[in-house]
Amino acid sequence: MRVIINCAASVDGKIALPSGEQTKISSEDDMERVHRLRASVDAILVGIGTVLSDDPKLTVKKEYADGKNPLRVVLDSNLRTPTDARVLDGMAPTIIFNSIRDGKYGNAELVRCKETDGFLDLRQVMAELEKRGAETLMVEGGGTVIWNFLKEGMADELYIFVGDMVIGGRDSPTMADGEGAKSLDEIIRLRRIEVKSMKGGILLRYEVLHGKVSGR
Ligand SMILES: NC(=O)c1ccc[n+]([C@@H]2O[C@H](COP(=O)([O-])OP(=O)(O)OC[C@H]3O[C@@H](n4cnc5c(N)ncnc54)[C@H](OP(=O)(O)O)[C@@H]3O)[C@@H](O)[C@H]2O)c1
Repeated sequence: MRVIINCAASVDGKIALPSGEQTKISSEDDMERVHRLRASVDAILVGIGTVLSDDPKLTVKKEYADGKNPLRVVLDSNLRTPTDARVLDGMAPTIIFNSIRDGKYGNAELVRCKETDGFLDLRQVMAELEKRGAETLMVEGGGTVIWNFLKEGMADELYIFVGDMVIGGRDSPTMADGEGAKSLDEIIRLRRIEVKSMKGGILLRYEVLHGKVSGR
């Protein structure tokens, strides 16, 4: 499956306020790009941290797709998704991967998944999504989820919109949190594909290199 990471950060690499509270980084133009990207994939995935702080809908605005929404996917080991979360609104098929049970959770399907190193096993998650016919997956955050996809070598492409702003704060979430590289050989190498100046910021697009040399 092709995995595309998308996120928006400030110039200092932060993706939310120090409290974790969501802040608007993407411009209108960038949001249009995000909706078009969503419309082009089969599934969109976030972690429970993002559901709890941002309560995202993860649907596509009607003007960018003929009412067809991709599958919404949440990684939530302990079923902490609030019952009134917008991902449970029934507007799109939704799967919550968790470590407790299979079944139903409001409008969502529950899929039980094993854990590896304290997180839901991403290979099993991908296998289940492929079983359901998904060929492209967009990973929309947050920082812990993005880092784990990069660390596991499971991301193919990365879009980052760098908004014209500084958020600051040592504890503000960044695009790739989690434990980070523990040595030089664990650093994730990228190949830059595109740099585009947009209203409100710059869009950067990269290929994620899996153990390949970036050519520098
Ligand atoms: N600017 C942007 O583009 C953007 C986009 C999205 C989010 N955000 C920001 O990101 C912040 C949330 O990020 P976050 O790092 O706290 O949370 P997150 O990455 O959304 O979710 C992480 C949580 O997901 C669960 N999880 C289960 N399996 C996992 C796996 N294999 N890999 C990673 N996580 C897994 C874990 O919780 P359990 O153990 O409970 O399962 C984990 O703590 C918020 O401040 C939000 O505003 C910004």
